[in-house]
Amino acid sequence: MKAITVRPPGAGARVEDVEIEERGMKVRIIENGICGTDREIVKGLMSAATVPENYDFLVLGHEALGILEDDTDNLKRGTIVMPINRRGCNKCINCLNGRADFCETGDFVEAGIKGMHGFMREYIYDDPNYLVPVPPQIRDIAIMAQPLSDLEKSIAEMIDVQGRLHWRCMDATYGCRKMLVTGTGTIGILISMLLKTYGFDVSIANRREPTDVETRIFEEVGLKFVNTSVHRGDEKYDGVIEASGSDASVIEYAIRRLKNNGFLGLFGFTQSGTLSLSTVDLQSLVYRSISITGLINGQKPHFEMAMNHLVQWKTQYPFTTSHFITRSVNISDQKSVLNVLENRIPGEIKTKILW
Ligand code: BGC
Ligand code: ZN
Ligand code: ZN
Repeated sequence: MKAITVRPPGAGARVEDVEIEERGMKVRIIENGICGTDREIVKGLMSAATVPENYDFLVLGHEALGILEDDTDNLKRGTIVMPINRRGCNKCINCLNGRADFCETGDFVEAGIKGMHGFMREYIYDDPNYLVPVPPQIRDIAIMAQPLSDLEKSIAEMIDVQGRLHWRCMDATYGCRKMLVTGTGTIGILISMLLKTYGFDVSIANRREPTDVETRIFEEVGLKFVNTSVHRGDEKYDGVIEASGSDASVIEYAIRRLKNNGFLGLFGFTQSGTLSLSTVDLQSLVYRSISITGLINGQKPHFEMAMNHLVQWKTQYPFTTSHFITRSVNISDQKSVLNVLENRIPGEIKTKILW
C-alpha cells in the first residue's frame, strides 16, 4: 500500500509502496493531520523517533481519521474513527490501567514517532479498543481531536496538581484565576479555548502582533492578547502554559510571571537555549510554592472529551472552528504533500493530507 515514510535519525520523507504485517480491524484512512512533531521527524531533529522492530523505515503520522471496514463488538462497519497514537508497555501499572501517558518504563510506542508505524497510509489494522468513534457532525474538524486529547489531559493534570490548594474561587468557579498561554499556534489556540471552557480568565501571548484571523478568533473566544516583545510586563498569573516550543528564554519569562502557588505547565518542546536560574530565583520557587509540570499525551478518556468539546465549540465558536483547517492537500499531489510536511504554512492552524 501507499504510505509516507521516514528513516530516522535521517532527514527527509518519501511517498512509497510498503508492506506491513498487522492484525486487527481494518480501517481505511481518509485523512491525516500534520503537527510540529511530524516536521521535526522529517527534519531529522526528533531524538525519540525510532523505526519499529524488524523494519528499516517508519510510516509517519499520528493524527488520523479512517472508516472502519469491519464490524466490531461495539462499532459498526462504516463508522468514522480516530486511532489513539500512544500504546502502553504492557508492564507498568499505568499502562495496564489505560494510562500510557504516564508509562513508567518508557517502553511505550507511539504511532509515527517511536517504534510503531504511523497512520499516513492507505489503511491500518488495529485493536478496536484503540479506535475512538467520531460524531458525524464534526467530521470536518475531528482531526483536531488528537492534539486536543493531549490538552484535555494537560488541563486535568493541572487541576489535579493545583488541587494541592484552594484553587477554585469564592464563587466555586475558576473565574478569578488568570492563565497565560505562550504561543498562538495550534496548541496555543486549542488550550486557550479549553481553559476558557473551564471558566478561567485567559490571555494568549506571542512576540508579534496577531494576524487578522487570530484577532477574530481571540475576540470570538474571549481571549486577551499580549505581545510579549512590547509588554515584557509585570502582570502576574496563577498559571502559565508554555505552548510555543521556542527557546528556553520563554520559560524564564513564564517563571517570572507566576503568582505565589503558581503552576507552570510545559507543553511545547523547547527548541534551543538553556535556562539559568540564580540561587535567589531557586529559593523563590520554593518559598512561593511554585509547581512546574511536564504535560504530554492524552489517552482514551481524553480523546472522548476532545470529541465532545469539538461538538460544543462548532456551535459556540463558528468563526474559529471554521478556520481550524488551513489547507488540505491530496496524497496524489506528492510535491505539495512533501512540501507541507517540511514547512509550516504561515498562519497555519491545521494542514490535512487527504487520501
Ligand atoms: C503528540 C503526543 C505525543 C508527543 C510526543 C505529540 O505530537 O500529539 O500525543 O505524546 O508528540 O511524542
Ligand atoms: Zn502531534
Ligand atoms: Zn508503561
